[in-house]
Amino acid sequence: MKKDKFYITTPIFYVNDKPHIGHAYTTIIADTLARYYRFNGRDVYFVTGTDENSQKNIEAAEKKGEPDIKKYLDEMSAVWAGAWDSLGITNDDFIRTTEERHLVGVNKFFKAVWDEGDIYSGTYEGYYCTGCEAFVPAGDLADGKCPIHQKEPKKIKERNYFFRLSKYRDALLDHIGKNEDFIQPASRQNEILSYIRGFMEDISISRESQKWGIAVPKIAGKGADGQALYVWFDALINYLTAAGYGADEKKFKKYWPADLHLVGKDIIKFHCALWPAMLMSAGLPLPEKIFAHGFFTIDGIKISKSLGNILDPIEFAEKYGNDVLRYFLLREITLGEDGNFSVLRLKERYASELANGLGNLVNRILAMTEKYFNGKCPEKCEGNISPTWLSYDINMSETKTHAALKDIWDLIDFLNKFIDAEQPWTLAKTDTGRLARVIYTLLESLRHIGLLLLPFMPETAEKILSALGVAESFKESPAEKLKLWGLLPEGGIITKAGQLFPRLID
Ligand code: MSP
Repeated sequence: MKKDKFYITTPIFYVNDKPHIGHAYTTIIADTLARYYRFNGRDVYFVTGTDENSQKNIEAAEKKGEPDIKKYLDEMSAVWAGAWDSLGITNDDFIRTTEERHLVGVNKFFKAVWDEGDIYSGTYEGYYCTGCEAFVPAGDLADGKCPIHQKEPKKIKERNYFFRLSKYRDALLDHIGKNEDFIQPASRQNEILSYIRGFMEDISISRESQKWGIAVPKIAGKGADGQALYVWFDALINYLTAAGYGADEKKFKKYWPADLHLVGKDIIKFHCALWPAMLMSAGLPLPEKIFAHGFFTIDGIKISKSLGNILDPIEFAEKYGNDVLRYFLLREITLGEDGNFSVLRLKERYASELANGLGNLVNRILAMTEKYFNGKCPEKCEGNISPTWLSYDINMSETKTHAALKDIWDLIDFLNKFIDAEQPWTLAKTDTGRLARVIYTLLESLRHIGLLLLPFMPETAEKILSALGVAESFKESPAEKLKLWGLLPEGGIITKAGQLFPRLID
């Protein structure tokens, strides 16, 4: 069945600090996919937001000397929303877990799980790491510290509510077994299967004496007094509440289940085991796909505040441009694998692939049209670009954004070589008929490059399409039509695109 909607999510981010480049990576990938599916005519619903009921947010507010937690959360959430705006992210919604619509949905969800008999009360004793916002098994501690955050976790013993996660072991294994695409890439699937088979236990879903958070619903009886829901239990439900669960059933019916949860590899246990089990318990359909991207280091070193190598994506984009940041992140790191971020490498790619590869091609084609045809598009001729689209569309549908970018650059390289081989400057003297066919082919190929680039480098793509006089067409026409050859009007005015990639100063 052909689907007409595409619901895509990023994780919702903690607001204990402003976004760093790792967070921007997740959001830029999601934005690229959202733009791609929109271009293809799908009714895209792209959601990101902030995870606000977390202990580490509270600690950050206290550290900042801000006694008014809500004020701190409001300010920080606005910082995140503003960051995505200035990076040109096209999310359709921004959910905050302190919003009323979320609270209503969480209560409804809790009731569904409670009615299913999947919540019970018990005592929990363990080591809680606020960095992970999770209990760390005693066996995983290294020198008494959380191996990821290098901090001593708090020893906690309290009466909590538990979710019967282990009840769903067989159902989860069965679902993953039957749906190859459910967890991607495959390496992550293996990791999750071994966790579900060997380690997954019931999970405590409430906290005693936590000052901030969503109260455990009264339905849980007297024990609920003074208990807040465990932040991950409430946070995961954002994917439902953002789609209207508990508040707008029509919208919910339209968008749920999500087509893609995009997450970092650090949070797959929550997304690929706990979350589907929660949904099964509440009797709701599971998301179609959870894709985990890798982590990247900066110059080979883990991104960490204490090491002082936090890169601010906004400062970075102001210096190099949003499109350059997008291009580099998506080209340099194979989606799904770990990678490295290096400014030196970015400058290399900028010079060879953007300035020389794409920028040069655009300038050459537009300048030759100006010189040989007074800036008018020559008569149409036969041509074909469908092999590039075919490969590109397959790669995009398989979430292989790096490979789709390579498809575009293969075409760019081919066209630069085509110009060298055809030598239009010689044809201008010897064969003007062939010259017209060569220039038309180049102009039309450039139009396709503009379209192919739209999800990845939207500003650059618009400049190219504007120079060709067809910037409005992609907003109106269906993608299938735009992907055909020969849509540039004969005699149409071709202008300059401006300098797309100026020389970097430092
Ligand atoms: N609040 C939870 C998610 C709840 S979703 C229901 C959380 N938030 S977070 O602020 O810590 O953001 C985590 C996400 O940021 C990771 O899953 C990943 O997507 C992204 N990244 C953080 N550091 C990163 C890198 N160094 N590299 C790539 N992505 C990074 O976890």
